[in-house]
Amino acid sequence: MTGTPLVVGVAGSRRDGSYTLKGVRRALAAAERAGAETDLVDLGSVDLPLYDPDRPAAESGDAEALLARMRAADGVVVGSPVYHGSYSSTFRNFHDYCSFDEYEDTVAGILVVAGGGTIASTMDHLRVTMRGVHADVVPAQVGVRNASDKFGADGTVLDDDIADRIDGVAEDVVATARRRMASRAGP
Ligand SMILES: Cc1cc2nc3c(=O)[nH]c(=O)nc-3n(C[C@H](O)[C@H](O)[C@H](O)COP(=O)(O)O)c2cc1C
Repeated sequence: MTGTPLVVGVAGSRRDGSYTLKGVRRALAAAERAGAETDLVDLGSVDLPLYDPDRPAAESGDAEALLARMRAADGVVVGSPVYHGSYSSTFRNFHDYCSFDEYEDTVAGILVVAGGGTIASTMDHLRVTMRGVHADVVPAQVGVRNASDKFGADGTVLDDDIADRIDGVAEDVVATARRRMASRAGP
């Protein structure tokens, strides 16, 4: 046994009723069913000033505590709304606080949520910038188009294909994290 993987979900919207948050919650529920422990970082409800390289994390609101939670993760599911064909400023701001220390040896899954139909560029931007901080990004990813048709008010995912895809990404993150943990533990 090499222990239980911890999967952290990051939701990059500040909007009340965020579909991204609903999607990330779904992913974490799937990760739990796959045997992981989970933690949710809802960037809509944290105190995180605009990243300033000259200001220590200790003086940057919740930054230190959030980074400690990220460093504890074996896997993450990062979710962002699509803003102008890319991720949100809320996600980017958090991303700028994070670096190799947070993501080295961390498996990542990607979820993007669009009001319209633009999903590919945002998934690409997340993939390449997560890889830029050495996250091991799983091949599967989820882009939700026309989000208002896909989520119920209670957070239910109304589209079975999207639900399966979200669950699949979470399961891949857990399985890959387990493989990495076993490999670190050795024979
Ligand atoms: C500043 C801004 C830019 C947006 N740009 C796009 C876009 O390029 N393509 C798109 O399909 N939807 C776009 N949308 C719509 C959001 O993707 C949509 O409202 C989404 O549900 C937001 O996620 P949330 O519910 O988690 O906040 C934009 C919304 C905002 C506020």
